[in-house]
Amino acid sequence: MRLKDKVAVVTGAANGIGLAICKAFAKEGAIVIAGDIDEAKCRLEAEGMVARGAVVRAIKADVTNTEDVRSLIDSAIDEFGKIDILVNNAAIAVSGNITTMPEKDWDRVMDTNLKSVYRTIKAALPHMLKRKSGSVINIASVQAFRSWHDWTAYAGAKGAILSISNQLAGQFAEDNVRFNTISPGAILTPMNEKRAIEEGPEFLLKSEAQHAMKRMGTPEEVAMAAVFLASGEAAFITGGDIRVDGGLCTVPRYIE
Ligand SMILES: NC(=O)c1ccc[n+]([C@@H]2O[C@H](COP(=O)([O-])OP(=O)(O)OC[C@H]3O[C@@H](n4cnc5c(N)ncnc54)[C@H](O)[C@@H]3O)[C@@H](O)[C@H]2O)c1
Repeated sequence: MRLKDKVAVVTGAANGIGLAICKAFAKEGAIVIAGDIDEAKCRLEAEGMVARGAVVRAIKADVTNTEDVRSLIDSAIDEFGKIDILVNNAAIAVSGNITTMPEKDWDRVMDTNLKSVYRTIKAALPHMLKRKSGSVINIASVQAFRSWHDWTAYAGAKGAILSISNQLAGQFAEDNVRFNTISPGAILTPMNEKRAIEEGPEFLLKSEAQHAMKRMGTPEEVAMAAVFLASGEAAFITGGDIRVDGGLCTVPRYIE
């Protein structure tokens, strides 16, 4: 019970890594406020966790909508009076060559994957500062460090998330609000299952091959890093990044 009675807000909580984080947090005793644009799936998953004895609330929250984000944060404060942990996980995977990517796709990636982080932190941070306590975990990606073809917008958003976390970590360290990132490698989630359907089974084989460990990661493996960063065990860790990437960043550049 490493997170007993901690209140955690997680975005993009209905599937993949966000869902695994919610389940791991709940198992460690946290109260989980699960936000997702997919309300039905979010509710279904929350009901499953509640049936196993967890305290979970499913909230419809589109991270591109400032009102939704405010309501998500307010719902935690109104019912539980505090937010101990904020996980910025919601994102979309949209690729495109920079010479041809439509501006609307670029804007959609930046709005969902990057500006969302501004929205949630802006709403949640004052509550953390008031109590001089908080752990913000932003999900980045190995894309922030390595070059792939045609993922400029996605990689740019993830790189900015690393910089923002670093900036805020220094600024709010004395207030005991910690900011860290997790950079996953390729993880088997609906995001990649969709790509496997679109690009064929070759995609999964290539994804496995790019890791030094020659396999993809699981959402649960990412979730365990989030549990650690959220817990008191990481009390002296801020401005850090944990790569959960099976050694991907240790091997030479992956060639498409
Ligand atoms: N899967 C990977 O290989 C991988 C690798 C590196 C980083 N990541 C990052 O991990 C995080 C989770 O990825 P995943 O693979 O679990 O994704 P996923 O697509 O499987 O799940 C994402 C969840 O976010 C929700 N979502 C999408 N747009 C939203 C919005 N506007 N508002 C609220 N919710 C929204 C979806 O409904 C879904 O439940 C993302 O930040 C992603 O960039 C994933």
